[in-house]
Amino acid sequence: MNYERQKLTPIYTALSKYKEEPIVHFDVPGHKKNKNSFIAKALGADLVSLDANSTKELDMLSHPVGIIAEAEDLLAEAYDADDAFMLVNGSTSGVLAMILSACSPKDKIIIPRNVHKSVINAIILAGATPIFIQPEIDYDYGIANGIKVDAVKETIKAHPDAKALFVINPTYFGVASDLRKIIKICHRHNIAVLVDEAHGAHLPFHPNLPDCAMKLGADLSTASLHKTIGSLTQSSALFHNDNGFIDIDKVRMTINLMQTTSASYLLLSSMDLARSNIALKGKKIFTSLLKKCSEAKAKLSQLPGISVITEDYIDEADENGVYDFDETKFVVKVNELGLSGFQVYTIFKNEYNIQLELAESYVVLAVVGVGDTDESIDKLVDAFTDISKRFYGKQEPYVTHIADFFEKPKTIVLPRDAYFSPKHPVRIDDALGEICGESIMIYPPGIPLIIPGELITEKIIANYNYYLRQNCVFMNDDNETGIIQVLGESQ
Ligand SMILES: Cc1ncc(COP(=O)(O)O)c(C=O)c1O
Repeated sequence: MNYERQKLTPIYTALSKYKEEPIVHFDVPGHKKNKNSFIAKALGADLVSLDANSTKELDMLSHPVGIIAEAEDLLAEAYDADDAFMLVNGSTSGVLAMILSACSPKDKIIIPRNVHKSVINAIILAGATPIFIQPEIDYDYGIANGIKVDAVKETIKAHPDAKALFVINPTYFGVASDLRKIIKICHRHNIAVLVDEAHGAHLPFHPNLPDCAMKLGADLSTASLHKTIGSLTQSSALFHNDNGFIDIDKVRMTINLMQTTSASYLLLSSMDLARSNIALKGKKIFTSLLKKCSEAKAKLSQLPGISVITEDYIDEADENGVYDFDETKFVVKVNELGLSGFQVYTIFKNEYNIQLELAESYVVLAVVGVGDTDESIDKLVDAFTDISKRFYGKQEPYVTHIADFFEKPKTIVLPRDAYFSPKHPVRIDDALGEICGESIMIYPPGIPLIIPGELITEKIIANYNYYLRQNCVFMNDDNETGIIQVLGESQ
């Protein structure tokens, strides 16, 4: 990497200059950078003055030839990729673009079942055929991990005509599969590798973090720069390696099919700044954060009723789908305190003023990013220390039907066909044996409980009711909780 070049922030620099120019705006946006406008008064005149429209000097995201093209080159260099595309609709749009670039209608794509909802949306849009590969499950923590190389081999053997394989690197819980081997095997079988690095934008910048997809030779990857490296929410990137599997022009065309023609310069310039910062200072920042995370986890491991995933969890022999682990993720098991992860999540917010990333039945997840400090991590440890003191030994461990959450649902109809079929709403308790017409997920993490075209079984109904009782946030098409769209005309 050329560190001198990485100091450049072409979008931010041009925008700062543009902001000072005495231009009278008869273009959009409609606030016209008016310092007295309601929006400037509420959000700050500085912020509004950076909110610009595409012009010749500021370039255009859908057809970059100037500063945006330059910023994308710098981004590609920082991530070891041949090409980079800035995105203003999160990795959600990166996932859509990756799958639509790789798959035509009916093409097979191998995906783990613990994917984000955007993957299912992409499969619906592309009309692709999902071939589900089971991730490894840790029943003790109640989480899904990575995919094993053997599982990839078996799936490819059964579906040698697959067009692409989709991998999460790392999972929400920080677990990485043996991506290097997976890429090698897939490429040997002419299968493109698409990687969801929504939670891994920081990976390339420290040797003790799992390897990033582009460095390992994946064909496409998408990373949420906003999640870990400090750019503004919604700013993400799509990366491409020219391995002969995915055509770069198709990628640009696909992004433009979905992306706005009025990209936010606040988002674009924030990516420019975040990329320069992480490229120049990432190693130092993460050396210090990783040290602090490891010290914090050593303390958490000593607390009665609390366990935490550390690098000891890694098993390079690939027995459990944990080839590598991102130490910036705090996966903390709390059910021995007699509380569910959901309860601890709420207690942390209400009683300790700590917003955790997510909860599952037995665990809560805290994520560390560039903005964290020793003090913020100390507060996390203090809260766990206190909660352990308050609850340990007072009640029986919290136990639930973990295995049922990870049973692979049965696909009856392709997701796209189900999406376009007539549907009607039924009460979840009356839906046994019906075919689901919508995606239902609990957010976060946004992993679907069931997707269009899958069979509704007793276990799905029990899982749905369980999450309802836990007061989880449901994301589904029908706003009414307890109601599910199923296929067929209503009688
Ligand atoms: C695994 C995974 N992939 C993709 C996404 C989508 O990312 P974004 O929020 O940047 O659209 C998320 C969001 O949480 C995610 O968890």
